[in-house]
Amino acid sequence: MNSNVRPETMERITNAELANKFIEEQISEVRKQVGDKKVLLALSGGVDSSVVAALLLKAIGKQLVCVHVNHGLMRKNESENVVEVFRGQLDANLIYIDATDRFLDLLKGVADPESKRKIIGKEFIEVFAEEARKLDGVEFLAQGTIYPDILESIKQAEGKKAVKSHHNVGGLPEDLKFELVEPIKLLFKDEVRVVGETLGLPHAMVYRQPFPGPGLGVRCLGAITRDRLNALREADAILREEFDKNGLAEKVWQYFIAVPDIKSVGVKDDSRYEGWPAIIRAVNTKDAMTATIEEIPYAVLHKITQRITNEVEGINRVLYDLTPKPTGTIEWE
Ligand code: XMP
Repeated sequence: MNSNVRPETMERITNAELANKFIEEQISEVRKQVGDKKVLLALSGGVDSSVVAALLLKAIGKQLVCVHVNHGLMRKNESENVVEVFRGQLDANLIYIDATDRFLDLLKGVADPESKRKIIGKEFIEVFAEEARKLDGVEFLAQGTIYPDILESIKQAEGKKAVKSHHNVGGLPEDLKFELVEPIKLLFKDEVRVVGETLGLPHAMVYRQPFPGPGLGVRCLGAITRDRLNALREADAILREEFDKNGLAEKVWQYFIAVPDIKSVGVKDDSRYEGWPAIIRAVNTKDAMTATIEEIPYAVLHKITQRITNEVEGINRVLYDLTPKPTGTIEWE
């Protein structure tokens, strides 16, 4: 698939039968393109890179080398889950790199959101490039580019300004020249999910809510510290667990916790207890350009508040952000 333009005649992939047809076509295209060479893939655990990995595993098996970089800003158990699914269940050739210390050391004391994004994006490429240089015989780089990414870059080329920079896929350094393999680049997100499920990926992975490239880094507001990041990760895990239990995960498009760099006075076991607030953000949107607030049952909010304040070290209040976009953006940074 060389063209970057989706033909008008291309049928929307809405069921397993159409997905299987697409998968078969792509398997043969990929085999033709890469022959017996190796293909490298940055596997974040997001929907797009996971579907590309599953598709390429079917097409070329161990010729695919997946690299998962844990930047230390992943949600609870997320990296472990990527390793379990791709190495454990799908027998993929997967290199796992825990680069937590590298990222957190670089981010120490950096409070400006755009600087944080730049540092995370740049370091991500650096870590990935270091791994790529260690490998022999890799001539191809697979990417989970999807059609909205192509449409977005056309818009940017036309000079439209973004509110925030999204540093996900930056260019690799000059010495690393790969030919691109982009098997899902003409698909819309709903089609990617149908293809993913047809390939046998877990439902939770295929329907995962969007998660920003810089991860919890833009939710641990201001300068990141390990203790506040850990508190955020634990609180976020509780929020997700309660949303799952109460059927809200299917109803709300994106939901997460942000923890600002402020402390307030509270009380615990009859003593003064200074802690951070955990802010619940739960929004619905079609295209992330605008967003509305979903009404969450009071009992669920109450339970989440109780659990977070009881179970998470360092948090003494829970707040619920009722601001639509605009004026608030979805993320706080
Ligand atoms: P905002 O905060 O701009 O978010 O209303 C819109 C959507 O984009 C996600 N987001 C990002 N995604 N890298 C990403 O890959 C980023 O730097 C980034 N910043 C925001 C956000 O989670 C929401 O889905």
